[in-house]
Amino acid sequence: MLATAPMRPRKITKASLARAASALRAGRLVAFATETVYGLGARADDPRAVAKIYAAKRRPRFNPLIAHVPDLAAAKRIATFDARAELIARAFWPGPLTLVLPLRSSAGVCNAARAGLPSIAIRIPAPKAARDLLRLAGVPIAAPSANPSGRLSPTRAIDVARGLAHIQGDVLDGGPCAVGVESTIVDLTGAQARLLRPGGVAAEDIAALIGDLAAPGGGTIKAPGMLASHYAPRAKLRLNAGGPDEGELYLGFGGLPQGTDGIDLSPRGDLAEAARNLFTALRDLDGRGAARIAVAAIPEKGLGRAINDRLRRAAAPRP
Ligand code: TXA
Ligand code: MG
Repeated sequence: MLATAPMRPRKITKASLARAASALRAGRLVAFATETVYGLGARADDPRAVAKIYAAKRRPRFNPLIAHVPDLAAAKRIATFDARAELIARAFWPGPLTLVLPLRSSAGVCNAARAGLPSIAIRIPAPKAARDLLRLAGVPIAAPSANPSGRLSPTRAIDVARGLAHIQGDVLDGGPCAVGVESTIVDLTGAQARLLRPGGVAAEDIAALIGDLAAPGGGTIKAPGMLASHYAPRAKLRLNAGGPDEGELYLGFGGLPQGTDGIDLSPRGDLAEAARNLFTALRDLDGRGAARIAVAAIPEKGLGRAINDRLRRAAAPRP
């Protein structure tokens, strides 16, 4: 049998970017840093390339992917933008916002990438290297978080290499992710804008521009990243805890009680810092073999909504 090279972190250079772009064009997988979490990319117009993402992550096929593009012009080639979409795209892109919009042309995004939906989720990631890669690739790149489905999202190249050790390809190492939680997903396919997933852009900041965001509609699964159990560490989580009980490690916020064994997400109580540290802290505590992690209460505002969403899913009963 041929020796296989597992996923390996690579420094970002002109040469590694060019190599990664040609791997993408050839239908292979490439993991790359975004400001939110690391993504596992494949060309979105090629069902065989997209199938590799679902296989590598063991992701349910009904869970559609986000198409990543380098600029607004590329986004407008695949989706229809109304005035609301235009406004928030201009305010928050490049950045941690994903828009779900009516599909304009399926030329750039195959059915498998959209799980058959007539809409398309799009985002322009912030890091220049990510946009350079997308520009060099020249086609929309479907990219979910680069972790096995249901596990903690990766915010460092090493997390990707460890979590996806069973596949081949490069991980472009952009360092630790600056935002640390996934993008905010806003559905603009209907008259009422809906918040499908709280994330790196505060929902309040979006509402200030286009009015209140409704909750995800019932019925069909709109964003199965919304599956109840998700982002799961091995340890069980106990939320809104004032401190750890016997046998628990503590995930604190705004100061650890004296003598507490654990990690403080942000000693100064800053939600952006807490978001940046969330997945690494959960990984670290999990790696220490705790059976249970007690978690401090996090304010339900701004990035706190994204943090609480991930914590609630991490604490949910596993299937
Ligand atoms: O920050 C992020 O968004 C990261 C980085 C890599 O860009 N990506 C990410 O992808 O979090 P993923 O696959 O883990 O989450 C994508 C979410 C899923 O919950 C999916 O159901 C939803 O986007 N989604 C994709 N297309 C959709 C569509 N057409 N309608 C509704 N939801 C959609
Ligand atoms: Mg994910």
